[in-house]
Amino acid sequence: MDKLQILITGGTGYIGSHTAVELIGAGYDVVLVDNLSNSSLKAVQGIRKITGIEVPFVQVNCTDNEQLGNVFRQWQFDAVIHFAAFKAVGESVAEPLKYYRNNIDSLLTVLEQMQATGIHNIVFSSSATVYGQPDALPVTETSPRKPATSPYGATKQICEDILRDTAASNNLKAIALRYFNPIGAHPSALIGEEPHGVPGNLVPFIAQVAAGQRSELSIFGDDYPTPDGTAQRDYIDIVDLARAHVCAVDRILKDTQKPYYEIFNIGTGRPVSVLELVHTFERMNNVEVPYLIAPRRTGDVTALWADPSLAARELGWHAERSLDQSLQSAWLWEQQRTVPIT
Ligand code: WQD
Repeated sequence: MDKLQILITGGTGYIGSHTAVELIGAGYDVVLVDNLSNSSLKAVQGIRKITGIEVPFVQVNCTDNEQLGNVFRQWQFDAVIHFAAFKAVGESVAEPLKYYRNNIDSLLTVLEQMQATGIHNIVFSSSATVYGQPDALPVTETSPRKPATSPYGATKQICEDILRDTAASNNLKAIALRYFNPIGAHPSALIGEEPHGVPGNLVPFIAQVAAGQRSELSIFGDDYPTPDGTAQRDYIDIVDLARAHVCAVDRILKDTQKPYYEIFNIGTGRPVSVLELVHTFERMNNVEVPYLIAPRRTGDVTALWADPSLAARELGWHAERSLDQSLQSAWLWEQQRTVPIT
């Protein structure tokens, strides 16, 4: 029997590339599309090297009906995992139209192509940012979504609503995975996160400070009502996160019955403060991360962590890799990532 075929949009990005590796490991065939606006062909090389498979890649803009249509005509997909989106929170505040146009258009175009070619299964890349600052922690999937704190967050909320309504109106099956804070890299250090310019996220910034590329980390606020005064997040290892997509695809392809829309939190369930993360990085990697305390960053919430029990129950998924392992892989990747793959 032919293997099941999965289209991965945003397939050369941070989460897309790790998901490709895990899907192939689980016995799926994958096709990667990406416009390379925030990633490079190095990810394709890395995926091929890790898996030993000449994974097909097509440079496509997912907002372009014709380009994407060609891909849907060339292959017969069993499911789509849609990652392709802009994700820089700060940039979304400065250029909201760019974010609304791209992130919503690309989902609509993917759904229209799926409809036109009779594909009914989609896994969507959502974010814990849809919860805003919740009233109670940890958050469950039924916790209310608060007003988004950025246009980026708003696009994730809107995309979730588009999926909910489309699933309700026809025979679409959709699973939205709400990621907490993805960190780390594949243990091979052949793929990982490639931030362009100054990293906005904590772990890539710490890694660059440890590598001497930046002089110090600014910790945004030490006066939060948390045990050590710094903000708390739920840091989820990228390989664990990638595996959650395999579980979601397994589920959606196994369940042949009904259209539905489901949401799952993908996190560890453990809050970690900025200071705790910095010190763990130093200890695990035997490096120093000089830091200073800076004012709070606009739009940041005090604390956010998951109740991941629904994913455990329904998807059979839970986080396996420790913070120690994630931060070791992040450091290994930082040291390797400037070395070309041969
Ligand atoms: C984590 C903590 C910062 C940088 C964002 C998006 C979210 C998701 C992941 C996906 C916070 C602090 C950070 C620094 C710091 N997006 N920090 N100094 O803000 O929780 O989530 O990324 O694409 O949707 O909102 O992640 O890594 O930016 O910050 O002190 O230089 O580290 O204040 O408390 P965040 P982050």
